[in-house]
Amino acid sequence: MFEVEKIRAEFPILEQRVYGKPLVYLDNGATAQKPRCVIECVARLYREENANIHRGVHYLSERCTALYEEARGVVAEALGTTDSGEVIFTAGATAALNTVAYSFSERFLADGDNVVVTEMEHHSNIVPWQMMCERKGASLRVIPFDDEGNLVLEDLERLVDGNTKVVAVTQASNTLGTRPNLRPIIDRAHAVGAVVVVDGCQGFVHGGVDVKELDCDFYAFSSHKLYGPNGVGVLYGKREWLEQMPPFLGGGDMVRKVTFEKTTYADVPLKFEAGTANYIDAIGLAEAIKFLRELNGDEVLAHERALLDYATEELSKIEGLRIYGSAEDKCSIVSFNVEGVHNFDLGSVLDRSGVAIRTGAHCADPVMAHYGVQGMARASFALYNTMAEVDALVAAVRKAIRMLR
Ligand code: ALA
Repeated sequence: MFEVEKIRAEFPILEQRVYGKPLVYLDNGATAQKPRCVIECVARLYREENANIHRGVHYLSERCTALYEEARGVVAEALGTTDSGEVIFTAGATAALNTVAYSFSERFLADGDNVVVTEMEHHSNIVPWQMMCERKGASLRVIPFDDEGNLVLEDLERLVDGNTKVVAVTQASNTLGTRPNLRPIIDRAHAVGAVVVVDGCQGFVHGGVDVKELDCDFYAFSSHKLYGPNGVGVLYGKREWLEQMPPFLGGGDMVRKVTFEKTTYADVPLKFEAGTANYIDAIGLAEAIKFLRELNGDEVLAHERALLDYATEELSKIEGLRIYGSAEDKCSIVSFNVEGVHNFDLGSVLDRSGVAIRTGAHCADPVMAHYGVQGMARASFALYNTMAEVDALVAAVRKAIRMLR
């Protein structure tokens, strides 16, 4: 039995009231709240253990270095790789996707090639590729989705062809919630010699991943959506690719030897970790992963699915409310609009009821364009949300409609 109240008790921020109402935090897709153990871990590191890593022979430096490399191992295990050299700590998922886009394309993308993305990608998995396509004379191709929010794969063989070097695809859409079937996409990409870059920002937190089983070439996620600290993320890459790719940023820690004539680089993963890494938050991320490891993943998923199903059912009863995305395999995200009500107004009125949702374009302009809207309201559920909070959401939406119409 999934004990949601016991889990909630681990997240101090959820205890507060806003505008005199209990906080109903349903903006987890943007950032998730942090359990006590993560907050304590980061505070303890600053209080007792902080020193720069990989640079000192003194006690604190060695201690922090060991904790940082241990954290890398924890992340590697969570991703399903035994080689922690395949785990690069970055400033976040956006930094991870920019790293692979720049570095892979710099070496492997050329005039006449193409990169394939999907219509449901977050801007972070579109714009870096677009920038590199412009720079290299390559073209950007798009796998579309249908109105239910399912990727349309009929044209996959035409879109992913002999000139495709990269296929960049989300594990779960931050707007539609769709979890695309990645198998045929990865198989096709590999059949033509292209690599697959998976944006795991929303997918990893709702169900995890096994990168070896999935056989993707790169995988990116951010800590802050996974109940970990902000400002750190991960790029997983198959060693065989990472070793062939040039560094993205230059600076300290990523070099073997620097002379004015020539610089040689450190081995992976440090080749991709220029400057002082965000070691405190990387260690905090490992703490978040350990927290999640203590829970039964299937129970968490089932709980989130129940929240999604209940919210979908109750919101669907509201006249004039349209939900975007009804794929069978969805993570716990529900985006919607109410006829005659602007999503910002809806979000503002909900806020006064204590209900925090996200509004706007969700960094997914092409998804907005698909449906011909400027923005959407989005409720995204985490493991600590409750059925009563879904009721609060639905009641607040009904109240907002009465006020705003
Ligand atoms: N990418 C985050 C979201 O979907 C910020 O809200």
